Amino acid sequence: MFGPDMISVRDLAKVFQDKKRGPVRAVDGVSFDVGRGEIYGLLGPNGAGKTTTLRILATVLAPSRGSATLDGLDIFRDGRRVRQRLGFLSGDMGLYHRLTPRELVAFFGRLNSLDGARLRPRMDELFSLLGIHEFADTKIDKLSTGMRQRVAIARTLVHDPPVLILYSTHVMEEAECLCDRIGVIHRGKIRAVGTIEELRARTGKSRLREIFLDLLSLAEGDGG
Ligand SMILES: Nc1ncnc2c1ncn2[C@@H]1O[C@H](COP(=O)(O)OP(=O)(O)OP(=O)(O)O)[C@@H](O)[C@H]1O
Ligand SMILES: [Mg+2]
Repeated sequence: MFGPDMISVRDLAKVFQDKKRGPVRAVDGVSFDVGRGEIYGLLGPNGAGKTTTLRILATVLAPSRGSATLDGLDIFRDGRRVRQRLGFLSGDMGLYHRLTPRELVAFFGRLNSLDGARLRPRMDELFSLLGIHEFADTKIDKLSTGMRQRVAIARTLVHDPPVLILYSTHVMEEAECLCDRIGVIHRGKIRAVGTIEELRARTGKSRLREIFLDLLSLAEGDGG
């Protein structure tokens, strides 16, 4: 259904040494694949290991163990090329509030090696698509939350990356509508993977909310 794997993760693990808590196994042997054009959702309760997994894929955090490729490139050996192929929208949006949207998006475009000749039409395209033109020259600290979110999306997409780590939600209905496949993660381990239909068949539940709770209680039964 989807093209060759764009993300391939094998036995990834991260142990944090925490002064108070001791060793924290944030990610504990995670493997999964995401095909070209596929929307894959990582679903798990607070502290499950989602952000840690994504930070490793974005090459900002070194794992304790395991390997991963992104668009065929080894994320550890080819970090620079991996970052060029990745659009990462983090929860804090990563905006500099003293810049205008035009300055900010141009800055990230140049960071990703876009020259003026390619940058200008690309920014024009994105600003039209996302309705940014109207406030493109207003300082970001004067913009509303929704406007800032659009700017953050433009920043993430400016270099037209083939792999996107874009969206974070706590609304199950959104995940249910958007995701081609869902991996349920709990205490650093993937507990189940499938399409909504497959997870329905497996649990006998219909809504993602109930499917999720069902899979988590099964994981608890396995000893957590
Ligand atoms: N720098 C760190 N030092 C110590 N422990 C950490 C660090 N970063 C994350 N952790 C721990 O790793 C575990 C996984 O955290 P992570 O942020 O990956 O969870 P998450 O699935 O993204 O949760 P949420 O839904 O709340 O965002 C948690 O127990 C967290 O406290
Ligand atoms: Mg998180």
